[in-house]
Amino acid sequence: MAGDKPSVELCKGINGLDKVVLRETRGSSAEVYLFGGQVTSWKNEHGEELLFVSSKAIFKPPKAVRGGIPICFPQFSSHGNLEQHGFARNKFWSIDTNPPQLPSNNLVKTFVDLILKPTDDDIKIWPHSYEFRLRVALTPGGDLMLTSRIRNTNSDGKPFSFTFAYHTYLLVSDISEVRVEGLETLDYLDNLKERERFTEQGDAITFESEVDKIYLSTPNKIAIIDHEKKRTFVLRKDGLPDAVVWNPWDRKAKAMPDFGDDDYKHMLSVEAAAIEKPIILKPGSSRMMSIADVPMYRH
Ligand code: BG6
Repeated sequence: MAGDKPSVELCKGINGLDKVVLRETRGSSAEVYLFGGQVTSWKNEHGEELLFVSSKAIFKPPKAVRGGIPICFPQFSSHGNLEQHGFARNKFWSIDTNPPQLPSNNLVKTFVDLILKPTDDDIKIWPHSYEFRLRVALTPGGDLMLTSRIRNTNSDGKPFSFTFAYHTYLLVSDISEVRVEGLETLDYLDNLKERERFTEQGDAITFESEVDKIYLSTPNKIAIIDHEKKRTFVLRKDGLPDAVVWNPWDRKAKAMPDFGDDDYKHMLSVEAAAIEKPIILKPGSSRMMSIADVPMYRH
């Protein structure tokens, strides 16, 4: 409730799964499930939800939850013997009791630190040792910030490479009234055309059919404008050159068991990512990747 002190609480969510609830003084909040290390809710100070989670989402491991912010690691999409979008979104993360020092932002006091490390079975699938530390933070003004730090802890001297995305499902009032700014004139790989490369035209990006594009070397600031809500999400990213824009539209929506037939009208995935050039880490080295989602309103 607005006026309360900021708080971070570990409690039970859907199907008894552990979740952490972050609350800020002015009333904004966020929820993170330890399953998947996945943010599943982000509300502004009026209690309005800002992230899309399907009403048909299945909160049951090992299937990742349809909505919020799944983490795609160590692979975006599917190839080789790794599952689609990697395994991080299907694993149980732990609370990190020994978090690293992050570049300080003294204003941010409401956060949780999670950690994922491989089990012996995981190493059979992806033969690398790593520490993946994720901080989910809420600022006093209600901005949502995610910071990932991935470290290569291989003891055999081997580097590893990975691709990555914060698969953010934004809740929008009506997809046909949404515009994205910051990606015009950029090159993209079209996932609907076997990743053929195209160049976006100068016009504003709007939506009237299925879209699944990987924009390359994008600016660090992308705006998603929801005209009906008079709301703009500003996505700021760091350490992540690419950005995926995805909406399955009606036909693919019907084919997904955990996605409602009309859900596509109310969501847009805009995913800060590193896909075209995989990130290579030598043993002992680490990489930091962050996003900040800022909601802004017109009155
Ligand atoms: C997007 C991809 O990031 O995720 C799409 O670009 C994919 O191709 C979508 O369909 C959903 O993937 P999943 O594995 O969560 O159903």
